[in-house]
Amino acid sequence: MEVLSVRNLGKIYKGAVSHEALSNINLSIEEGDFVGIMGPSGSGKTTLLNMISTIDRPTSGDIRIGEQDPFRLSEEQLAMFRRRELGFVFQSFNLLNTLTVKENILLPLALDGIALDEMERRVQSLAEKLDIVSILNKRTYEISGGQAQRTAVARAMIHGPKLILADEPTGNLDSKSARDVMEMMDRRNKEDQATMLLVTHDAVAASYCNRVIFIKDGQLYNEITRGDSQPAFYQKIINVLSLLGGEGHEFSPIRR
Ligand SMILES: Nc1ncnc2c1ncn2[C@@H]1O[C@H](COP(=O)(O)OP(=O)(O)OP(=O)(O)O)[C@@H](O)[C@H]1O
Ligand SMILES: [Mg+2]
Repeated sequence: MEVLSVRNLGKIYKGAVSHEALSNINLSIEEGDFVGIMGPSGSGKTTLLNMISTIDRPTSGDIRIGEQDPFRLSEEQLAMFRRRELGFVFQSFNLLNTLTVKENILLPLALDGIALDEMERRVQSLAEKLDIVSILNKRTYEISGGQAQRTAVARAMIHGPKLILADEPTGNLDSKSARDVMEMMDRRNKEDQATMLLVTHDAVAASYCNRVIFIKDGQLYNEITRGDSQPAFYQKIINVLSLLGGEGHEFSPIRR
């Protein structure tokens, strides 16, 4: 089943000088897919993610998420749509530091009137899968970056969204924590069929995806799929990145 369809998408930022950030982007994501988006700084990755996450509107083309055109919804319906159908993971974790880990994970359910024992069951199950059971009652300033990001992944999944979107989920993590987070996202994808789309500069993180799409100057540049070997896929990613050009320092240091 197709979860996301992007057709002839374009985005022009209008300002003193107008800037075409994306043009003619086509993209389809099936249920259970795990897709990475890479490209040099300024190539339009965040712009694309912002439109898929319905935070910003395209200038042309259309986006469908599970048959729905979110941009046809009223503001109120859109807010509900986002809350129910999408899950978000950010580079900076975006957890509320006045709440415990558990309360943060439960936030997406808080407005939906779900029974307490059902909420408890879901938190426990996800916490076990993400290895954060022991920190559920801690506040967010008492946990590590890797634990914070695994908490954010739990929060993004607790309501069973159609699509989980992540912008640089490993951007603030050391390489060990980054691997832990990616391994757990990978497992949620494989075992729970969670559909995920992530933007990353990190070739190691991208090598966990089934498929990586590269954009350059606002256009699709290339797409590669993983196959059986993660190390071989990592090497393929590095090769495309070097062809893509841009300064080497735009991509994070190679971590192996
Ligand atoms: N709100 C905005 N108004 C005008 N131009 C913008 C705006 N946001 C982004 N741009 C421009 O659009 C282009 C794409 O930006 P975008 O943030 O999508 O890039 P990116 O691929 O996410 O880069 P990075 O890897 O540095 O995060 C850039 O040239 C940027 O300057
Ligand atoms: Mg960006």
